[in-house]
Amino acid sequence: MKNLISMRDLSKDEILHLMDIAGEIEKGNIVPDMQRKLAALLFFEPSTRTMFSFDTAMKRMNGNTVIMSGTKNTSAQKGESFADTLLTIAQYADIIIMRSPIEGSSRYAAEVVDIPVVNAGDGANQHPTQALLDLYSIVKTQGTLENLTIGLAGDLRFGRTVHSLAQAMALFGAKFKFFSPSFLQMPSYIKDDLAEKNIQFEECPELDGNLDDLDILYVTRVQRERFADPEEYEKARGSYILRKSMLDGVKDNLRVMHPLPRVDEIHTDVDVTQYAYYFQQAKNGVYTRQAIISILMGEV
Ligand code: NCD
Repeated sequence: MKNLISMRDLSKDEILHLMDIAGEIEKGNIVPDMQRKLAALLFFEPSTRTMFSFDTAMKRMNGNTVIMSGTKNTSAQKGESFADTLLTIAQYADIIIMRSPIEGSSRYAAEVVDIPVVNAGDGANQHPTQALLDLYSIVKTQGTLENLTIGLAGDLRFGRTVHSLAQAMALFGAKFKFFSPSFLQMPSYIKDDLAEKNIQFEECPELDGNLDDLDILYVTRVQRERFADPEEYEKARGSYILRKSMLDGVKDNLRVMHPLPRVDEIHTDVDVTQYAYYFQQAKNGVYTRQAIISILMGEV
């Protein structure tokens, strides 16, 4: 693993190895040392968890970070090309972690620089580090990644987390239920991919009454920033709201996950149930990102 750009670049063995390392880091059995290492966090889109958890991950390993939030006050404003900005940053930093609204931008960055590049979200395309922390959360709560039934709900069209997660879980024989309004369905390139791997999926119109066989229900926000027409967004928002009353009769091991931020798609009355796992999921992001950085830097 030289870069982490798309979930499709990872094999099952590489994923399992990463899960093991994250687990050992959480237990304190592996303590990676990033002293004198610098991570450049380039975030051209808003972020709370991804940016802070990468920053935390690096600092827990005694490493350092520099952060660019947007292009304001940088030489991009003077007309510097993205390639020149990247080549410059690669003179200072040991790894680049970047988020951009432009699909394919991390792949491009990885071609330009010779230090590792991590995709922390590229438009509506991929969010592989989120998928890895999601897998780590699934294995922690279910004891396995194999043969689980996973519900993915919300904006499956623009939500990059569900694209990466569906591709990852397909390697482990998952069965999927997709819950979304018809105009926010899972893109056909992902569905084709699943069909090719003989992965079962069904598209369900309703959450209510369809949750009883799930091991994981993964809820996502409608991605307002990807809508060209605000009226379309208004039609979509609030179309799926998970409430505590809908969880009557679900499996005991069901866990409700969400990459966060939540808007209104999980009612706060779910937070106090045994099923809610989204904040622990965010905590798992730190161990997973420590593992990702350590592997890419050849430290473990
Ligand atoms: C997600 C993202 O940025 O794609 N957030 C995150 O990284 N936890 C999900 C979202 O913004 O809805």
